[in-house]
Amino acid sequence: MNIAIDGPAGAGKSTIAKRLAKDMGYIYVDTGAMYRAMALAAIRLGLDPADEEKISAAGGKADISIRYQDGEQQVVLDGENVNGHIRSEEVGNMASAISVYPQIRQKLVALQQRLAASADVVMDGRDIGTCVLPEAEVKVYLTASPQARAARRYQEIAAKGRVCDLADIQKDIEERDYRDMHRDASPLRQAKDAVYIDSSDMGIEEVVDAIRQICKGRQ
Ligand code: DC
Repeated sequence: MNIAIDGPAGAGKSTIAKRLAKDMGYIYVDTGAMYRAMALAAIRLGLDPADEEKISAAGGKADISIRYQDGEQQVVLDGENVNGHIRSEEVGNMASAISVYPQIRQKLVALQQRLAASADVVMDGRDIGTCVLPEAEVKVYLTASPQARAARRYQEIAAKGRVCDLADIQKDIEERDYRDMHRDASPLRQAKDAVYIDSSDMGIEEVVDAIRQICKGRQ
């Protein structure tokens, strides 16, 4: 069985998907991390995110693969484990900007489909239920209000001892939502057969339980 979880930035997809995968003995596939690795390659080359030709060429050359260490997904870019370099807002924004390009998407979608064909997966992203795994047995569209998502991001960043501004984070989230939802190539939207969950007022366990119930109904 494959489980697809899509939704906007900061909705809690990775926390929920990771937890669910662990409980069910499935493999967790974080597709955003793959776009982030591509973004890191572009940043390191000093590329302009608006330059589709150069970004697509760099994406074509970048060797991206996934491996698992102690159950955690590691993204390998040209032989280097880049997990420690892809979580910044700079990389996230670049990932959103370059993920509009079809050549970047084709390459990563193929990698994601290979992974799902080889194991039971919980895969999160923006286009999993609509494009990567249209036949997934369980599809969830997980969202929360922009205010709730910004507050969660703020807490995450503050917990790491970094200074940040809540209003800036919310603005960033809203811009990213807009770009991810309005691009031509597989925009973020709810698949027709996806279950909609608004987690604004739900705890992690509550959301995990809700998805477990959906899975039970499909087994
Ligand atoms: O989930 P995330 O914040 O790590 O994703 C970073 C960006 O990558 C996101 O803003 C859009 C892009 N992305 C995508 O286009 N399709 C996916 N399946 C996953 C991420």
